Amino acid sequence: MTQDELKQAVAKAAFDYVESILEKDTIIGVGTGTTANFFIDELGKISHRINGTVASSEESARRLKEHGIPVYDLNSVGFVSVYVDGADETNKHLQLIKGGGAALTREKIVAATADEFICIADESKMVQILGKFPLPIEVIPLARSYVAREIVKLGGDPVYREGCLTDNGNHILDIYNLEILAPRELEQQLNQITGVVCNGLFAERGANRLILGTSTGIKTILP
Ligand code: A5P
Repeated sequence: MTQDELKQAVAKAAFDYVESILEKDTIIGVGTGTTANFFIDELGKISHRINGTVASSEESARRLKEHGIPVYDLNSVGFVSVYVDGADETNKHLQLIKGGGAALTREKIVAATADEFICIADESKMVQILGKFPLPIEVIPLARSYVAREIVKLGGDPVYREGCLTDNGNHILDIYNLEILAPRELEQQLNQITGVVCNGLFAERGANRLILGTSTGIKTILP
């Protein structure tokens, strides 16, 4: 199977799971990225049965609406029953790096409210140690070079993602050359830097279930 076929297969598996727990009042949290897009397209097939969704980006909201699926502001619904999203990396504890698509802040907010967070990924995303994928950090534009200097002190190599403005009007720094042996601690440390809006480590609130597409089939992994 190609990587795209694996992404499509895990999206379908997540859809089957969500459909099996779907109730009249269920609100589904929907992530961002190419894998999440396949999930949105699956949801489109049952748009008439979906009470509502909360999207983690403007791009996903647009795609959901194209399918005729209602999209709500998180404030008006309070929480989501289940959140489905991809990842850039995952370890076996289902701690993740996210934000390759610059949507990390809204993703983390929706994930925080979710009863259950289901991560969908192809096997290329599974790693022993997080950090080979550059860790995205959303920063207030004014603070960008200050935050970058603080990150150098922590041993990372920050690179400004040129031309990228997040849905919240902020900038992204991608941190290279991190070997993240203590994800929870690093997540907290990064949050302490003034000017950081959010970092792409999802360790404090990792996934509850990983649906992983592999060459030998789909595996469900629990932390
Ligand atoms: C978006 O900001 C990211 O967190 C995505 O969830 C992540 O980059 C995975 O994207 P793909 O499914 O496109 O690989």
